[in-house]
Amino acid sequence: MITATETKFPQIKMALPGPKAQQVIEYDAKFISPSLSRDYPLVAHRGHGAIVEDPDGNAFLDFAAGIAVCSTGHCHPHVVQAIQKQAAELIHIAGTDFYHQHMPQLAERLVATMPKSHHYKVFFGNSGTEAVEGAIKLARYHTRRDKLIAFYGCFHGRTLGSLSLTASKNTQRKYFGALLGGVEHIPYPYAYRCALGHTKETCGAEIIELLEQQIFKRLFAPEEVAAIIVEPIQGEGGFIPAPNFFLQELQRLCNKHGIMLILDEVQAGIGRTGKMWAYDHAGITPDIVLTAKGIASGMPISAFIAKESVMQWKPGSHGSTYGGNPVCIASALATLDLIEGGLMANAQKVGGYIFSKINDWPKRFKIVGDVRGKGLMIGVEFVRDQRTKEKAPDLRDKVVLNAFHKGLLTLGSGENSIRMSPPLIIDEEQADCGIRLMEESIRDVEKTL
Ligand SMILES: Cc1ncc(COP(=O)(O)O)c(C=O)c1O
Repeated sequence: MITATETKFPQIKMALPGPKAQQVIEYDAKFISPSLSRDYPLVAHRGHGAIVEDPDGNAFLDFAAGIAVCSTGHCHPHVVQAIQKQAAELIHIAGTDFYHQHMPQLAERLVATMPKSHHYKVFFGNSGTEAVEGAIKLARYHTRRDKLIAFYGCFHGRTLGSLSLTASKNTQRKYFGALLGGVEHIPYPYAYRCALGHTKETCGAEIIELLEQQIFKRLFAPEEVAAIIVEPIQGEGGFIPAPNFFLQELQRLCNKHGIMLILDEVQAGIGRTGKMWAYDHAGITPDIVLTAKGIASGMPISAFIAKESVMQWKPGSHGSTYGGNPVCIASALATLDLIEGGLMANAQKVGGYIFSKINDWPKRFKIVGDVRGKGLMIGVEFVRDQRTKEKAPDLRDKVVLNAFHKGLLTLGSGENSIRMSPPLIIDEEQADCGIRLMEESIRDVEKTL
């Protein structure tokens, strides 16, 4: 049997799912909550680098990275060693009650990535949604205001506070009752479908105007608004980058009115776009930045990083039993070594390489409407008709499924897009392989039309 450690390319040996994978799927169906939405029957058994192996010995090239989490690939030896070493020394102590040096150590590393004009401080949690919850609380605490503004299409998590900001799919909210009050959503600058004929660079001007002329004048007086929260690149929403000028304008408005600008970098951050933070491309200075996913290569940790002048709250006002767990921190420190030691540059290089090969997909494939993204955060939008831009979620689903059967793991995103978010370790040969399998998958769908 070929094992994941011996190959960097996919190898599919049988119709999927194989017999052992099928057993796991049936086992899972008996005991696991049906709320999880698996798009195709991948059963992961082990992983190494950019390869995931199933229990039947099929090897997949991973362009999903566990929803953009396995930034350094699966089981990177530097990360594994750091986890093993820390697990043998101290697994847990509760940073909310006691000190351990790892917490300030990781916080210092994160603060070093922030704009130098301000000092920042860090709070550690366990998941993306917790970072969002904490940021909502901090913004309210600091401003003594309660209103929040978020964007259609953005995803911020599934706990009740963060879900109040999430405006991605209605199934994520349906039957869960009343959420946080004082939240308004406004459109996200979606260049491919931008209103009023704007370009990729200028899309969003009318949204800034909507905010100033309508929201601030008719709904929320700006002095009541605690925060505007935004993903610099929508992740779950379709891998849609906000134009730089748009983020700069948000910053200007927030500064003008004393509103906290919260950047949700849970999916886009930690080197994936070729810079540490996706907002770095716009050169802005956020008040609060949220991170999780790629920060620790798969160990559960999140953080919100806020200006010191903002993170002024009394002991007891916020805490977490597990947040800043030493083993997770060890994994995060090792991850940052690798990201800063070359993987961020690799994301820029290989991401640029992939774009140079797939930018013309809308010319070569009639069902591809748009290709977009930054670094190794690449979205491909599927349409039934390039002229009308009619969305084609069914064709997107078929491409994702075809790719799986060919040995390439991708994920849907938004209504009708595919996201490619491989580990930041992939090389050009693996990129070529992923591109080839995607092209074959798209072509197979086009043949059926
Ligand atoms: C931008 C963003 N924010 C928050 C979250 C929530 O993270 P978690 O699933 O770890 O709670 C996600 C998850 O996909 C996300 O993409």
